[in-house]
Amino acid sequence: MTAATAPVLEARGVTMRFGGLTAVENVDLTVGPGEIVGLIGPNGAGKTTFFNCLSGLYRPSSGQVLVGGVPLPPRPHAAARAGLARTFQNIRLFPNMTVTENVMVGNHIRTRQGLFSAIGYGPRYRHTEKATRTLARELLDFAGIHQHAESPARSLPYGDQRRLEVARALASDPSVLLLDEPTAGMNPAETRQMRDLVLAIRDRGVSVLVIEHDMRFVFGLCDCVVVLINGRKLLQGNAEQVQADERVIEAYLGTPASADREGPAAPAGSAEAENTADADDADTAHPHGNPAPTAGEEG
Ligand SMILES: Nc1ncnc2c1ncn2[C@@H]1O[C@H](COP(=O)(O)OP(=O)(O)OP(=O)(O)O)[C@@H](O)[C@H]1O
Ligand SMILES: [Mg+2]
Repeated sequence: MTAATAPVLEARGVTMRFGGLTAVENVDLTVGPGEIVGLIGPNGAGKTTFFNCLSGLYRPSSGQVLVGGVPLPPRPHAAARAGLARTFQNIRLFPNMTVTENVMVGNHIRTRQGLFSAIGYGPRYRHTEKATRTLARELLDFAGIHQHAESPARSLPYGDQRRLEVARALASDPSVLLLDEPTAGMNPAETRQMRDLVLAIRDRGVSVLVIEHDMRFVFGLCDCVVVLINGRKLLQGNAEQVQADERVIEAYLGTPASADREGPAAPAGSAEAENTADADDADTAHPHGNPAPTAGEEG
């Protein structure tokens, strides 16, 4: 494999146990340069736990994560400095800081200045504050939320808060971006904007690994889709291969246990998907796997 085609991100046999529960078991996954890879699976399949292992929030029980071919120490800052950025299933912003400041904070990892030096609160700020502010404005423009630049983050509409999280993640200049349910709770117009944003991110040269329950979004966007069931990788393929695999439909719809709960949207092409096909109607029919956060859910 040449350097040009080496995976940007690679997980080898990643396993995560919580006491007696194995949330992620022996999962391999690669994201190549310029790729958008989807990660799907029913609620509780282990998707967020896997992200937490990739991004250094959790130390995997076993297995290895490599960014650009280099093994990662399991620490969030090590992952970020290696070129990996992420957003969270439950939005995490500094609500009382301005939108611009939130993005500026995302840049501190790469500039290695202190967290609050990035927004002008520290002694070293004069050297970098201007450049960081310019970068933040460029990213807000890129994410389509520049009109909110001086507003407190808490005042933004929900969909714009999600895009702000993406802009903040991009401020660390990643080679790969992990998005955990970026369209959760969005209306159809917001979902389309998020889709366009992910495509534009790829066009910037940033690879993307995205967890989503909205199957239309996933199958319309991703070059490759990985299916996680009960912590294990069931299969990996393109949209057609995954949609045609009966085990995937069975995993979502086929068992009495999963039929009892409000699960995610069915794979596109299934009867249920047709019934919820108008963009993001599935968002209202299904809660997108956003139960009340549990302690340590995302580290
Ligand atoms: N910190 C933790 N301690 C103990 N168990 C955990 C922890 N985090 C996750 N789990 C368990 O691991 C399993 C996988 O959870 P995870 O949140 O990764 O699923 P998910 O695929 O992201 O689900 P969803 O689609 O609902 O977001 C679940 O059984 C969950 O209860
Ligand atoms: Mg999750």
